[in-house]
Amino acid sequence: MSQPSILFVCLGNICRSPLAEAALRKRAVEAGVAMTIDSAGTGDWHVGRPPDPRAQETALRHGLDISSYRARVVTPEDFHKFGHIFALDPQNLKDLHRIEPSRHIAELRLLMDLVPGRKGTAVIDPYYGDEDDFEQAWADVDAAAEALVRRYLS
Ligand code: 4NP
Repeated sequence: MSQPSILFVCLGNICRSPLAEAALRKRAVEAGVAMTIDSAGTGDWHVGRPPDPRAQETALRHGLDISSYRARVVTPEDFHKFGHIFALDPQNLKDLHRIEPSRHIAELRLLMDLVPGRKGTAVIDPYYGDEDDFEQAWADVDAAAEALVRRYLS
């Protein structure tokens, strides 16, 4: 069987989904689980840019350099390339359904549905927030990353 392939999608691909990508990369390496991992945004304002400096600092506090990540827009083709697409909030999920091809291989879900007690909830967008909001976003995506890696351990 081919390795799991996972795409995280938020609005700008500069705050939450790069943090989710980083958290899962770290957890997957630590657990020795091979995965294809990527992130994208539903909006195109930041295409080609590195993550928000505050997201980069948050990742660095957790031991990860994400300065080489570059924002891109999610496309219908992603639904044929990734086995799992996770939306960071319910609006992202709605926007993904809007571009979802009629037939595809991807399982499309809200990310926090993976975390006990958080079904249906958002990873709150820290873009207009402060360092604490970025830390909260990290805690959320890392809890989801832990749950994801556990899925593939057994
Ligand atoms: P993200 O955060 O979706 O977590 O990357 C945002 C980044 C940029 C904007 C909004 C949210 N923006 O409006 O430019």
